[in-house]
Amino acid sequence: MSFVKEGCTKIVIADRNSDGLEETSKLIDAATGCDILKVQTDVSKPDSVQNMVDQTVEKFGRIDYVCNAAGIRSPRQVRWRAATKPIDRHAEQ
Ligand SMILES: NC(=O)c1ccc[n+]([C@@H]2O[C@H](COP(=O)([O-])OP(=O)(O)OC[C@H]3O[C@@H](n4cnc5c(N)ncnc54)[C@H](O)[C@@H]3O)[C@@H](O)[C@H]2O)c1
Repeated sequence: MSFVKEGCTKIVIADRNSDGLEETSKLIDAATGCDILKVQTDVSKPDSVQNMVDQTVEKFGRIDYVCNAAGIRSPRQVRWRAATKPIDRHAEQ
C-alpha cells in the first residue's frame, strides 16, 4: 500500500499465501485502481522467485523498486536460545 500511496501505478504482489494475495489485491484495487499483478511465490525457492521476476518483466517491462518483507516469526524465545533449524533452512538455499 505504501508504494501505491506514493504514486506507483503498476504493482506486483507476491506471497506464498494465495488467500492473502487475493485480499491484498482487493485492498489495493479498492483504494487506487492501479494495475496489479499477483504472483504466488515462495521466496525460499529460487525457481519460484525467478518465475515472479519473469512474469513481472513480461507484464510491465521492468522492475523499479522491490520490497522483500516475506518472513516468519520465530517462537517466543531469546534469539540465542532459539533452535538453529529455521536459520539453517535459509542458509542451505
Ligand atoms: N512487523 C514488525 O514490526 C516486524 C519488525 C521486525 C521484523 N519483522 C520481521 O519481518 C518479517 C515480516 O513481518 P510481518 O509483520 O510483515 O509478518 P506477516 O506475517 O504480516 O507477513 C509475512 C508474510 O510473508 C509471507 N511469507 C512467509 N514465508 C514466505 C515464503 N517462503 N515465500 C513467500 N511469502 C512468505 C507470509 O505468507 C506473510 O504474508 C518477519 O520475518 C518478521 O519477523 C517484523
